[in-house]
Amino acid sequence: GVQAPLDLLHRPLRDLRISVTDRCNFRCGYCMPRSVYGPGHRFLPHQALLSFEEIERASRLMVSLGVRKLRLTGGEPLMRKQLDQLVASLAPLQTPEGTPVELTLTTNASLLADKAAALKAAGLHRVTISLDALDDTIFQRMNDAGVSVRQVLHGIEAAQKAGLGPIKVNMVVQRGVNEDQIVPMARHFRHSSIELRFIEYMDVGASNGWQMDQVLPSEQVRERIAEHFPLQALPAAQTGETARREAYSDGAGTIGFISSVTQAFCGDCNRLRLSTDGRLYTCLFAHQGHDLRAALRAGDDDDTLRARLHALWQQRQDRYSALRGTTASAGTMHSHAEPPADAARRIEMSYIGG
Ligand code: GTP
Ligand code: 5AD
Ligand code: SF4
Ligand code: SF4
Repeated sequence: GVQAPLDLLHRPLRDLRISVTDRCNFRCGYCMPRSVYGPGHRFLPHQALLSFEEIERASRLMVSLGVRKLRLTGGEPLMRKQLDQLVASLAPLQTPEGTPVELTLTTNASLLADKAAALKAAGLHRVTISLDALDDTIFQRMNDAGVSVRQVLHGIEAAQKAGLGPIKVNMVVQRGVNEDQIVPMARHFRHSSIELRFIEYMDVGASNGWQMDQVLPSEQVRERIAEHFPLQALPAAQTGETARREAYSDGAGTIGFISSVTQAFCGDCNRLRLSTDGRLYTCLFAHQGHDLRAALRAGDDDDTLRARLHALWQQRQDRYSALRGTTASAGTMHSHAEPPADAARRIEMSYIGG
């Protein structure tokens, strides 16, 4: 068989993030602002999407090349019809060493209450839920779709009841938008066994109009929390983790910080992304993908495909955030810094997969 590849920076392939739909029922300003994703926006037509069979085949090949974790994302993955059938087809996948591949889902949880039990039964291991505020006015302003905090908390409860844990909650922090929700969110999820993670607002895609002055660095988020609830740093559990974790000193649980703007984590990035229409991206900030769908539909056999994927990973040398970080520390941390000049060519996160 083919050996598991390392890329040009000696990083293995471990994590495949699969965008199963480019649609979402939310219109978060940092991801799918309504000004861009309004009624006139054209989403991908059905025949452009990878079928469940194609996703399963791609996943199986990736697992033979080192992937140990599959994450279903979007858009909002629960908008894809019969997603539990895809989960059921991925659940039997095992690494070459014979351990089950970790199967996870990132969701806004608005549709989760009705689906959690079926997803668990199909073999899903756990979920990560996006929630940006506890205050309903702030949350509804952010999702711009009239979804209440209650509905999301209901989805989280359903996931807990179904056994889809350990559950993580992701909060994208935007200065001046939801920064006053940091401490209330921390307080709410203490003692819950749910890990809350604070994400720096990233310059991903071209439609959110990102500016550095809208980023609240994780270091400052941490200080605000530690004023109320003392924290102590935890060692990394796995290489290539996105989050730096800390524990509440009083034993009330753990939190995480995903600081891709101020402390890039490209050094051991082991993630590959598969877009809704079957293009492979070796970085969240890549401009170009590799058309796996064409290869899947051309009738190539498994060995041919595996060799192409192996070569693709071996040629990888992406480290966008680390490179951008060097310019950020060189002086673009001021307010009103311009977005980088190449921003217009970037791929949107809802299409490439969060
Ligand atoms: P778990 O810890 O196993 O749940 O995995 P994870 O951290 O990969 O999961 P999650 O999907 O929750 O990712 C959290 C967020 O981190 C994403 O929504 C992105 O905002 C950010 N993120 C994930 N991967 C990358 C990456 O490769 N590069 C950058 N810059 N940001 C990423
Ligand atoms: N910055 C940081 N995180 C983002 N996400 C989407 N857009 C951005 C951005 N601009 C992440 C959030 C959300 C997930 C689906 O994608 O974590 O929870
Ligand atoms: Fe939808 Fe998630 Fe993007 Fe918000 S961040 S618009 S919930 S895909
Ligand atoms: Fe990986 Fe690219 Fe994100 Fe760096 S910027 S962590 S290389 S996906």
